[in-house]
Amino acid sequence: MALWGGRFEEKFDKKAYDFNESLSVDKMLWREDIIGSMAHASMLGVQNIISKDSAGNIVKGLEQIYKKIESGELIIKDAEDIHSFIENELVKLIGDDGKKLHTARSRNDQVATDTKLYCIKKVDTGIELLTKLINTLKKLAVENENTIMPGFTHLQKAQPITLALYFDAYKQMFKRDLSRFNDLRKRMDECPLGSAALAGTTYDIDRDFVSEKLGFAKPTDNALDSVSDRDYLIEFLSALSIVMMHISRMSEEFIIWNSDEYRYIKISDKYTTGSSIMPQKKNPDICELMRGKTAQVFGSLLSMLTLMKALPLAYNKDMQEDKTISLPSINTALDSIEILNDLLLNIEFDKEKLKNSCLTGFINATDVADYLVSKDTPFRDAHEMVGKLVLYAEKNKKTLNDLTLEEFNNICGGKIQDDIYDKISLETITKARKSKGSAFGIDYKN
Ligand code: ARG
Repeated sequence: MALWGGRFEEKFDKKAYDFNESLSVDKMLWREDIIGSMAHASMLGVQNIISKDSAGNIVKGLEQIYKKIESGELIIKDAEDIHSFIENELVKLIGDDGKKLHTARSRNDQVATDTKLYCIKKVDTGIELLTKLINTLKKLAVENENTIMPGFTHLQKAQPITLALYFDAYKQMFKRDLSRFNDLRKRMDECPLGSAALAGTTYDIDRDFVSEKLGFAKPTDNALDSVSDRDYLIEFLSALSIVMMHISRMSEEFIIWNSDEYRYIKISDKYTTGSSIMPQKKNPDICELMRGKTAQVFGSLLSMLTLMKALPLAYNKDMQEDKTISLPSINTALDSIEILNDLLLNIEFDKEKLKNSCLTGFINATDVADYLVSKDTPFRDAHEMVGKLVLYAEKNKKTLNDLTLEEFNNICGGKIQDDIYDKISLETITKARKSKGSAFGIDYKN
């Protein structure tokens, strides 16, 4: 039965009913809806708005419904939305007392509360998952302090770094994500219940009681704002979008590094799949999917902003779409954080290959220039000379380390001595990078 109908003469059109329903999505909120209703009913009893007996019956009835849904005995179906479903079940179970539950509230403050409670739970899960991921990256950084690899700019070999610096870079990104989660979690922590339809209520309700019972820090300050505020969803999706952007970047690197051209890593069979036609294939599907699912999360953020733009105060039915848009994306993003963490622990890095990859591509060119600077050559001149050395070496199919002193000095005018070979060796140039924030300038245990 619908929660409204008194003033209607005609039956709702079937197609319109299906278009209007939100149960298919908001059934995800059944726990929050029941818990919210329990807090509300208890408050109505304490405030003598309904009798203590009625309040007690409602709470007991709701407890039973909770258990029945959890055990699978009661299937959520045949209602306009989750609020109607739970209330209908309650009336079926306890009779007239059930009809008193909706005193002094509206579905507008109810849905805002349910969705917020759901999001808070998800933010907390996100905080846990990000913390775990950050710890994994820290462990991997500590383990790889001496694993030399090429660092890239423009996807061209640039200068040597360590795998520790690489993992730590992502650790920094996810730490910023974590701080965004903690920050928005605080703003989310206000209970809208008791705002009723838009204007509060004439009943002597106790919003502090309800807020505290539901674990919020405080009730919201303005009823009109409370029922129409979806900022918390937008903020959460925005923070999740940034997380996904980070995950997608790492996924992209792993996809490239897993290719036959690079072979820097081997992703465990647990996270790869085969091809139905090409028997040799082992595809990095999970990385590709994390990169791909980023689109869904970004899309949700933009959809939510578009949904809310130009909506007049207060509640408008447009806002029902918030759940269809947001909830699946929130779960996708959280799943991605969890999967990335497990995947990281199941990647084999080919340390030999990483190191050898630094031996081509003139990765020590800057260091030759720095050597010339140490012999009193102005950097700009040194840069020009090394450019010529690279050109010469490339034409003669040599690395800079292969050049003879004579070849060096033909271009560098006698500035180069035989200490050059040690000064530009891979080991030396990598370890020399110890300024704050560089590969050997970070305490990875922190
Ligand atoms: N299903 C609705 C939603 O998700 C609940 C609120 C309905 N309020 C209303 N006035 N029709 O937004």
